Amino acid sequence: MSAPDLIEHEDGNKDDNLGLYRRATQDGAEWWRVSVGDRPETYRLEHGADDHDNGAGTVDIDLVVDAENLRAKLKKWRREGFAIEREVAHDADAPTRIAFMPELQRASARMLAAELHDAGTAGAALGDAAPDTVRVGNVDVRCGAAHPLVPRVNPAYLFPARFNDIVADIVENRRVMLIGHTGAGKTSLIEQVAARSQHGVLRSNMNGQTTVGDFVGFWTVKGGETLWVDGVLPTAMREGLWLIVDEIDFAEPSILAALTAVLEPRGRLVLKEKGNEIVAPHPAFRLFATANAVGAMSQFRHLYQGANLMNEAFLDRWRVYLLDYLLPAEETDVLVGTLAPHMTRPLAATLAAIAADCRAAFAREDLSSAFSTRRLLDWAELMLRTGDPERAAGPAIYAKVSPEDAALIRGIIRHHIAPAA
Ligand SMILES: Nc1ncnc2c1ncn2[C@@H]1O[C@H](COP(=O)(O)OP(=O)(O)O)[C@@H](O)[C@H]1O
Ligand SMILES: [Mg+2]
Repeated sequence: MSAPDLIEHEDGNKDDNLGLYRRATQDGAEWWRVSVGDRPETYRLEHGADDHDNGAGTVDIDLVVDAENLRAKLKKWRREGFAIEREVAHDADAPTRIAFMPELQRASARMLAAELHDAGTAGAALGDAAPDTVRVGNVDVRCGAAHPLVPRVNPAYLFPARFNDIVADIVENRRVMLIGHTGAGKTSLIEQVAARSQHGVLRSNMNGQTTVGDFVGFWTVKGGETLWVDGVLPTAMREGLWLIVDEIDFAEPSILAALTAVLEPRGRLVLKEKGNEIVAPHPAFRLFATANAVGAMSQFRHLYQGANLMNEAFLDRWRVYLLDYLLPAEETDVLVGTLAPHMTRPLAATLAAIAADCRAAFAREDLSSAFSTRRLLDWAELMLRTGDPERAAGPAIYAKVSPEDAALIRGIIRHHIAPAA
């Protein structure tokens, strides 16, 4: 009899150990499932039993081990008569569940390696990194030309690792829509990537008087001559600027119709009013949208009066990212960074905790107003000047919300800040 296929593969692929190990028992079968753990170099082990009457049983042991521990388990199981099942498993879903993640991890690693190789050969003559790119988070972004519309770099701006996918999408020229509460950081994220990579930014807010004329363009008479004035969209497309369509869920249908044409990466704009002139996008052109109450944020529509639902076909043309407020530790860093050298870390940590509590109250619907990072920074700044959190909270917070909300926020603040002796 040949040895069960469950030996350790010393120099082979570690993933060869992944799979379902099974042995027959009197009532049915007993099994261990080995899959990749959440952290590197870890493995998830699940144990269960199937019985003849009830089919697949439930998992009764679920643990995470390191490679060495797995090796010991494999030896033990082998002694106990477990054998690996590669193709066919009792549970029809199990083989793909087991195989998918390691397969994907290998495919993804190959793709990254190929991209690194391409980047390496492209920049080989120039040394490690091409001089015309800047690193934002862990992504290299190609720099634009100097332009008066390049935003100012905010040195205290924080790029948490979760922003890397968004920056990579910008590099790949995807259409990116950021959704989230006011003040969560949607606009500033795009502006700060643009600031660091020297791209000019145009913003167009849909929650106002923006007309299709402002957006696409219009004819006007000047000195007896009729001339065409480009709107923000063709301007950004021709000049290679980044266009942020803010609060897109308030846009009128004619604006959305014009936008739809350019949502494909090389999508062109046809200026019907200008004899069907075609505007092709400059390679540096990027298109962004922000919204408060779209898609996964629809549950908060009551807070954003007048927002339109966007249909799924339209949303499917975008990568939609839900941006949440910064975590307290991150916001502490931002407070210290923005208001240095006066803002100390203990003060900042308390203020960030107050903001987090207010947001939790908002999520429970105890508070009806969101608590933005902007509001927190403003309150902190005024507090440093006045030396009085309560007095500073007047213009920075209380006057902007209902009396009920103000009372609740005052309670949260008092909970964190004991009155001066
Ligand atoms: N990651 C961050 N690092 C530093 N400051 C931030 C960050 N995110 C948001 N802020 C602060 O919050 C303010 C509001 O963000 P903004 O981008 O205007 O929000 P939104 O567009 O979602 O309403 C910004 O001006 C900035 O001062
Ligand atoms: Mg904004």
